Amino acid sequence: MPQHVAIVMDGNGRWARQRRRPRSFGHRAGQKTVRSTIESCLRRGIGALTLFAFSSENWQRPQAEVGALMQLFLKALDREVDELHGHGVRIRFIGELAAFALPLRERMHKAMERTRDNGKLALNIAVNYGGRWDIAQAARQAAQAVGRGELAAAAIDERSLARFFCLADLAPVDLFIRTGGERRVSNFLLWQLAYSELVFSDVLWPDYDDACFVRALEEFSGRERRYGKTSAQVSKA
Ligand code: FPP
Repeated sequence: MPQHVAIVMDGNGRWARQRRRPRSFGHRAGQKTVRSTIESCLRRGIGALTLFAFSSENWQRPQAEVGALMQLFLKALDREVDELHGHGVRIRFIGELAAFALPLRERMHKAMERTRDNGKLALNIAVNYGGRWDIAQAARQAAQAVGRGELAAAAIDERSLARFFCLADLAPVDLFIRTGGERRVSNFLLWQLAYSELVFSDVLWPDYDDACFVRALEEFSGRERRYGKTSAQVSKA
C-alpha cells in the first residue's frame, strides 16, 4: 500500500462536454470524486493524499471558468471542513496562496489552523501551485538561510535543500496518478516525484471511482521499486 498518493485530476471539462454542459458542471462532478477518493484513502489507511486542484497556469482559462472554480473551492471549504475534521483529516493548501481573494485565503488558513493536529490523513490541496515554483521557493528559502548564517552555501546538497520543499514533512510520494488520458506531469510536484511510480488512467476524473483507484493500487503493488539497484539486489533485500 502506498503511504502517499498524488493525483492530477484531469478530464472534468471533457466529461461535461460529452453531456453538452458547461465545464463548471464537470468541476462540480469532479468534487464528488474528490470526496470518494478521500474516503478510499481513509478506509485503506493511506497516510497522505495530494491533489492538484488549480495550477499556476490555470489562471489563463476563461474568466467564467476560473470564477466558477473559486466559488466551488469556497463552498467546498464551508461545507466539507467540519466532516473532514471529524474524520481526523489534516488539510493543507500548497502553492502561492497570496494570489487568491481574501475571503478564500482566510477560509484556507482557517481550515489549516483548525485541522493542524489531525493525524489520520494528510490532505494536501495544490492551488496556484507549480513544481517549478516550488523549486524556486525552496532555493529562495535556502538562500535566506545562508544570508542569516544558518546554512553554509557549500553545505547545500539534496538533503539540506529537501526540507525547504512543500510536503517535506510527509512520506515521499510513492504513487502518482493522472486521470483523463494524458501522459504527462504538467508541472505538478517535480522534486517530490523523483522516485514515484506513475500510473495513468484514461478514465475522466468525474468517473474515477473506487474500483479505478483499486486498479491503480494494484498496479502500484505489482511494480518493482529498485531505486537504481538491480532486480537481484532488490529481491534479496
Ligand atoms: C482538470 O480538468 C481539473 C481542474 C483544473 C480542476 C480540478 C478541480 C476539481 C476536481 C474540483 C474540486 C476540487 C476540490 C479540491 C474541492 P480539466 O478542466 O482540465 O478537464 P479537460 O482536460 O477535460 O478539459
